Amino acid sequence: MTRYSKVIGTGAYLPPNIRTNEQISETVDTSDSWIYERTGIKSRRIAGPNESAASMAEIAARLALDAANCDANSIDLIIVATGTPDRVYPSTGCLLQQRLEIKNCVAFDIQAACSGSIFALSIADQYIKSGAAKTVLIVGTEICSRIVDWSDRSTCILFGDGAGAVLLSASNEAGILSTHIHSDGEYEDLLYCPNPQVATDLNKHETGVINMRGNEVFKVAVNTLGKIVDETLEANNMDKSDIDWLVPHQANIRIIMATAKKLKMSMDQVVVTLENQGNTSSASVLIAFNEAVRDGRIQRGQVVLLEAFGAGFTWGSALLKY
Ligand code: UT7
Repeated sequence: MTRYSKVIGTGAYLPPNIRTNEQISETVDTSDSWIYERTGIKSRRIAGPNESAASMAEIAARLALDAANCDANSIDLIIVATGTPDRVYPSTGCLLQQRLEIKNCVAFDIQAACSGSIFALSIADQYIKSGAAKTVLIVGTEICSRIVDWSDRSTCILFGDGAGAVLLSASNEAGILSTHIHSDGEYEDLLYCPNPQVATDLNKHETGVINMRGNEVFKVAVNTLGKIVDETLEANNMDKSDIDWLVPHQANIRIIMATAKKLKMSMDQVVVTLENQGNTSSASVLIAFNEAVRDGRIQRGQVVLLEAFGAGFTWGSALLKY
């Protein structure tokens, strides 16, 4: 009998503090209309001074556990995707394990920038399918606001903070149908965030903020996400019309619309959260997935395509039957 990874619970957390386009335009040369037209974003959430990737992850994870009616101690693997960990080490996964008071599980972080949650889903699926794990908690959690240069109008308008979680369990019922992940390190210069603490003589002048050549990233993202859609459908011998929902990474509404067009999907079948959240990097896909599960749009038995693209470049998809 095939062993699948089935979604048994989802959760998300967004900090209450809102930063609008109007507020940003008070400090850099931009406007609400420019930001909204070019990105689809109106506002984003900003974590409070006492919040961290781990504290936000805990709230999202507890909501996913509650939704699944699952005890934290039945988790045997935690995978946290983050580019803004609380500490260099221990991993945010271990900090989350401590917060959830789980004594006996494996926990680690993965770093795949905005594609982190898709990479985590792929890893979790391999563990579950092979029988190495039964219940896996995945969290994408990011405090992008602390690595954004708030004087750079080309990046500070884009990002926001938040966490999304999904709980997977081994099941005989169809769940994750396939995952596809890719990396190409050639594109480092188009999108990166230095770590000044470990700088060499060559890069010690750099500060720890997001650097992005947005327009070039945009073009590669649209092209690559189109290809991953084809790859995913082909691997499952499926047609575009078999997909009920697209849950894309929330970087830019124009990128999302291009992927929907490629799938010949109406925007009514696409989960879009970026208008009031911005790009929450590795958290974005799981936050969007949680929203559409909780408001009843995504129903049991439906086919959902999740996809993301980020620094590295990294990109990937997960096709699942909810
Ligand atoms: O999540 C990880 C992956 N990241 C992404 O997928 C992000 C992809 N990139 C994007 O979303 C878009 O490229 C941006 C929203 C970042 C920029 O939009 P764009 O349409 O690609 O604009 P652009 O970079 O080509 O810039 C066009 C103009 C430039 O002025 P000039 O040179 O034409 O005079 C920019 O200086 O817009 C200017 N500009 C702005 N103007 C007002 C750049 N940022 C702003 C701003 N407000 N905030």
